[in-house]
Amino acid sequence: LADGELAGLHVLVTAGPTQEPLDPVRYLTNHSTGKMGYALAQAAQFMGAEVTLVSGPVALDEPQGVHTIRVQTAQEMFDAVREHFSQADLTVMAAAVGDFRPEHRSEQKIKKTGGAMPPIVLVQNPDILAWAGEHKRADGSQVVCGFAMETQDLLANAQSKLQRKHCDMLVANDLNEPGAGFAHDTNRVVILTPQAADTSDGGASTPRVRVEPLPLMDKRDLAARI
Ligand code: C5P
Repeated sequence: LADGELAGLHVLVTAGPTQEPLDPVRYLTNHSTGKMGYALAQAAQFMGAEVTLVSGPVALDEPQGVHTIRVQTAQEMFDAVREHFSQADLTVMAAAVGDFRPEHRSEQKIKKTGGAMPPIVLVQNPDILAWAGEHKRADGSQVVCGFAMETQDLLANAQSKLQRKHCDMLVANDLNEPGAGFAHDTNRVVILTPQAADTSDGGASTPRVRVEPLPLMDKRDLAARI
């Protein structure tokens, strides 16, 4: 880690899963442990940044010297990001945000009804990364990095996400790769960054993307690299 490389900068990181409640005892969630996001927050803090970490429910200790905000739902994560985004020079969204939430949260525990299954109607959560991409300062002084976790067509999906969500960088990992993705201490990723457009054809060609595959790395080393 280069000491002080991020001194004077504000870094905002999202990490962990979200939990989307069905009733007071049940929720929808995913396998995220928060390890990648916490490693990113700690790395930025070591590099001298002032770091705000918005974290879903995880079993990790809060990184030292980092302002950690704990949330449960995607909506709460969105509210915390909206509150801190305008001050952030660098934003890295490593959270595995629930794309959907139950439309209704039952006040009481949903009971077995003797046969008929209770329906669960889902509605879409806000896309926090897409919102950040749309609300970056117009002068280009804010950098937004997203993550993509895919089980198929990694590069095509990651490239479309980079462009659709207006990211300056996208870290893509393939869940099928050994040692990559949820819960591991290691990760193997490909980093995508947009390249200046080739204007020789009048801008007709598809936008160019730089693709940098990294070796299998410890999440802490990878965090510093990102
Ligand atoms: O579209 P997908 O969920 O695969 O995109 C992953 C990226 O978008 C991650 O950086 C994740 O943190 C972010 N995301 C988000 N809000 C959502 C869904 C994903 O910020 N509702």
